[in-house]
Amino acid sequence: MSRLSRRSLLLGAGAGALAVGGGALLGFRFTGTDSTGTLLRSRIDLPPPFQRPLTQPPVLAPVESTGGSDIYEITQREATAEFFEGVQTPIWGYEGIFPGPTIVSPRGRTTVVRHRNELPVPAVVHLHGGRVAPEHDGYPTDLILPADGSLDDHHGTGHGGHAGDVSQGVRGYEYPIDQRAATLWYHDHRMDFTAPAVWRGLAGLHLVTDEEERALPLPDGDRDLALVIMDRAFDEDGALRYPSRDPELLETPGVTAPYEAGVLGDVILVNGTPWPYQEVDAVRYRLRLLNGCNARRLRLRLDPAPDGVAEPLVQIASDGGLLERPRPHPHIDLASAERQEVVVDFSGYRPGQTVRLVNDFGSGTTADVLEFRVVREARDESEVPERLSEIERLDPADAVRERDMVFQSNAVDGQHGWTINGDPFSVDRVHAAPALGDIEIWNLYTDFHHPIHLHLVHFQVLKRGSKEPGRFDGGWKDTLDLGPAEQARIITRFDGYRGKYVFHCHNLEHEDMMMMGNFEVR
Ligand code: C2O
Ligand code: CU
Ligand code: CU
Repeated sequence: MSRLSRRSLLLGAGAGALAVGGGALLGFRFTGTDSTGTLLRSRIDLPPPFQRPLTQPPVLAPVESTGGSDIYEITQREATAEFFEGVQTPIWGYEGIFPGPTIVSPRGRTTVVRHRNELPVPAVVHLHGGRVAPEHDGYPTDLILPADGSLDDHHGTGHGGHAGDVSQGVRGYEYPIDQRAATLWYHDHRMDFTAPAVWRGLAGLHLVTDEEERALPLPDGDRDLALVIMDRAFDEDGALRYPSRDPELLETPGVTAPYEAGVLGDVILVNGTPWPYQEVDAVRYRLRLLNGCNARRLRLRLDPAPDGVAEPLVQIASDGGLLERPRPHPHIDLASAERQEVVVDFSGYRPGQTVRLVNDFGSGTTADVLEFRVVREARDESEVPERLSEIERLDPADAVRERDMVFQSNAVDGQHGWTINGDPFSVDRVHAAPALGDIEIWNLYTDFHHPIHLHLVHFQVLKRGSKEPGRFDGGWKDTLDLGPAEQARIITRFDGYRGKYVFHCHNLEHEDMMMMGNFEVR
């Protein structure tokens, strides 16, 4: 019974076929108004929730550390994972695990990650939220070919067609880590095939730490928990289901109808475990939330809230690190690729009590996320200070230009696709060419839900439509959760590096189906 949320009882199964706006004209269906996408159901019998403990991805140790840098090695390979008791599911994993190992980088030291590709397809690695030189950013055509040489003569990169800076088997990515402490993540970014590759497991956390953050009395150690939330769907035999047009992920990109608007799974994994539980002391915890879903939006809430506390999720950080001041919320909304960090004080609960992290944008199996079990009282020296950090406010008066970027559904080559200002992605099309250091204002317009992500830079939200920024728009962002027919005004400074970077919708199906553009810092 716990699997039936109030929402599904109220709305019934019919809500799954609700069409929004022009979606009906284009022939795809939506699972309600909270996410743009179509539900792909599992065929395996799903276990009851909250049976297995949450685990934290292992922290990767460097293979070598020199004066100023730490060198890591990651092998990308086919492996299996046991998502369900006794069932082996084939995955693609960094170091063969789902999600990949966590890298922790202190600010001021360079991190080098040498990726070896033992997959049967080309790979590209992007550090999402990282400020890195263009040749290390994981441009979609900068492929690492399989180490076994099996694709050396294969020039197809789907309908992108262009090969970029291609490496044979191994590539070292250099990250200067000259940026604020933040919860970043790394994931595959290959032209046309990012969505299925991430779905199979090519994603992991990369945490940046710094002095400023370490000096704060925030919960840490065992009381600093990462929660990578991913929806997935499984076949009878436990294999991951995904509606790729080319199951080999080599030739024809994209997904079959009716999934072009986004693939939504019915199993919620947290750090690779379906609906886990986590024992906690009755003290404060820091939760690093990452929406690692391809298309699903999440609205996370504690059920029940502690007595008398209406806003128990105290946000301390966003995509780009600490906020200036903590901000309490009744729930946290999170679109694909967004991160929000919160502190939860479990002293508002009695030992023995269970508290669920639920997803109010889900229904049925996707309404459950995780169960906290409050086990005992304990000492708590942590605090959430009134002042967390300082954030330079970018002034619209300093902007040297404004640009409009329209993210919308369109026909591309006679098929359904997604475009920016009417154009599908092309490596040769540059949507913006700011000079190094320029501050620009971008006006983003949408037709459906589009989480918009810029590489290289973090930005600030100036307005949503005619209104002030939303409650989750604070601090430095790299991905913005936009709803249907929404408009947002953002400001950023294009600094750090010259060169060509992408910006795109982080609904990964939209990204693969061309909703991506280039900006080139000159
Ligand atoms: Cu998280 Cu261009 O990506
Ligand atoms: Cu990115
Ligand atoms: Cu989109």
